[in-house]
Amino acid sequence: MKPFKVKTLVKNIFKNFGLSNINASICANYILMAELYGAPSHGLARLKMYCNRLEKKIINPKPKIKVKKISTSIFHIDANNSMGFVAADIAIKIAIKNAKKSGISLVAVKNSGHYGLSSFYAEQAVKKNLMVWCFTNAPPAIAPYGSKKSLFGTNPICFGTPSGNKVPFILDTSMSMINRGKIRVAAKLGHKIPLGLALDKFGKQTTNAKKALEGTQLPIGGFRGSGLAWIIDIMSGVFTGSNHGGKVKDPFDDFTGPQNVGHLFLVLKPNLFVGKNYIKRIKENIKMVKKLPKIKGVKEILYPGQGRGLRYKQNLKKGIVIPKNILQEIRKLNVIK
Ligand SMILES: NC(=O)c1ccc[n+]([C@@H]2O[C@H](COP(=O)([O-])OP(=O)(O)OC[C@H]3O[C@@H](n4cnc5c(N)ncnc54)[C@H](O)[C@@H]3O)[C@@H](O)[C@H]2O)c1
Repeated sequence: MKPFKVKTLVKNIFKNFGLSNINASICANYILMAELYGAPSHGLARLKMYCNRLEKKIINPKPKIKVKKISTSIFHIDANNSMGFVAADIAIKIAIKNAKKSGISLVAVKNSGHYGLSSFYAEQAVKKNLMVWCFTNAPPAIAPYGSKKSLFGTNPICFGTPSGNKVPFILDTSMSMINRGKIRVAAKLGHKIPLGLALDKFGKQTTNAKKALEGTQLPIGGFRGSGLAWIIDIMSGVFTGSNHGGKVKDPFDDFTGPQNVGHLFLVLKPNLFVGKNYIKRIKENIKMVKKLPKIKGVKEILYPGQGRGLRYKQNLKKGIVIPKNILQEIRKLNVIK
């Protein structure tokens, strides 16, 4: 399907589920971007879930989002259980505006929902020649090191910087071996997942996606990944005033109330210490990595974000391929209201 058609379709569905024209447009845009980035686990596959939650009003379709100024460069947003996309979109725009003025800006968001890919927001800052960190917590998926029970979310960590190249440097990675959305898509399509990514509920390695969802996901790098997921829970949850410690509700399975996810955005001017030399220095830095001798089978050493940039270009031309079962869900959503 052509990208603009996907966007119009999704926007209309969100409007039918009570979102304002502008908020429906923001959400549709991010869902389309996930598809274009080649991350369908965070795109149309989640539309039904968002609509279910909007219908039950555990995502507030008409939120009154409050922005509290704490100092010239620090802001605290109460998202009033809005769509995560909407709150995060406001937050990153405030962070960008204020980092441009004062060199650095920190924006915390509480009472929010699932905001999709962190790179959506990082990319906006990088396009304005800024450096950025984005954090969000997520529902329990990873067992803290030494435990059998999931508590931390897949809690992505995201860093972006201008690269002196058309494609920004954006590392955007879950703290789990694989993001949960990919396991959900595999479970939906009846596909297996590779060994070494998840345990079943008895603590045994599994390749069965459904059993993995009932069990726990393995963190990247053992106790180190578990520690990083913990940091992100502290920064996004404890620090911002949002749910934390395993209390963020699973948007697919738990309809007992809003998720109360937290996000944190830190945006900085990259030239704070080295002035105009920053771009020259980052270019040199990337060049030094890229020209290293490669291992067998590797054509090019990529920097984070390069692959996604390429997929975006290709998908924009090729259009969005929607799996049959997801197309059926979308058709139902489009007809129901
Ligand atoms: N909102 C949420 O609750 C939530 C939770 C978890 C993940 N996510 C999102 O899911 C998305 C996918 O996460 P993921 O962990 O599956 O990402 P991934 O494994 O696809 O990629 C992780 C990072 O590694 C980089 N990378 C990949 N291959 C590379 C290579 N060959 N050389 C150099 N760099 C390379 C990518 O550019 C990316 O920045 C992220 O955008 C994340 O924000 C969201």
